[in-house]
Amino acid sequence: MDPATVHQLVKAIEAKDLSTAAHTWRVVLYSRAMLEAVGADNVTIHAVTQGAALHDVGKIDIPSAILTKPDRLTPEEFAVIQQHPVTGYARMVAMDVEDKHILDLIRFHHERWDGLGYPYGLKDGDIPLVARYFAVIDAFDAMTSVRPYRHEVGEKAAANALIELRNGAGTRYDPDAVRLFADLFERGSLTWILNYFNDGTPIPDFTPDESAVALIGP
Ligand SMILES: [Fe+2]
Repeated sequence: MDPATVHQLVKAIEAKDLSTAAHTWRVVLYSRAMLEAVGADNVTIHAVTQGAALHDVGKIDIPSAILTKPDRLTPEEFAVIQQHPVTGYARMVAMDVEDKHILDLIRFHHERWDGLGYPYGLKDGDIPLVARYFAVIDAFDAMTSVRPYRHEVGEKAAANALIELRNGAGTRYDPDAVRLFADLFERGSLTWILNYFNDGTPIPDFTPDESAVALIGP
């Protein structure tokens, strides 16, 4: 995909679901590190990192009132959010994106190894590899990023997150993907990513540009 288009979409996603540029960067960098570790070629790495940056692109099509609702979601609202892999895939197809890695990552990033994920309930090897890798990355980042209510950050949070990932290997996550990620982390290859914009330093305010606002919708 054209990098300018990816950038514009990423800004739109961040504005819409109030996620941060730092989260986007970290999941992109973790994806690159995992693929390099398994010897993926540059074309694949390029596509998968674009897919990682765009994994939640479908949230652009989910109403803000649901995405950023401070209270507990109703089952109906949760069902709407669970459609974001589908709306994201549809948006990419409508934009003539044909790269399988990008489409697979966006469409299947919430599937689980045991088939209990959403929206399709695919199981183990039926889930494309890039999406199995990404599920581990997204979970790890959610468990280790700075949040107002979390006291534990940095290495301690990472150690606990690795325990959680290992507990979920074979149920939530592809066991090989967990092993690969944990090995890389324990070798120290990912520590710099963990700390990327994640040391309590405030991230500069995000101001959506006009083109991003046009994409976001209500
Ligand atoms: Fe998602």
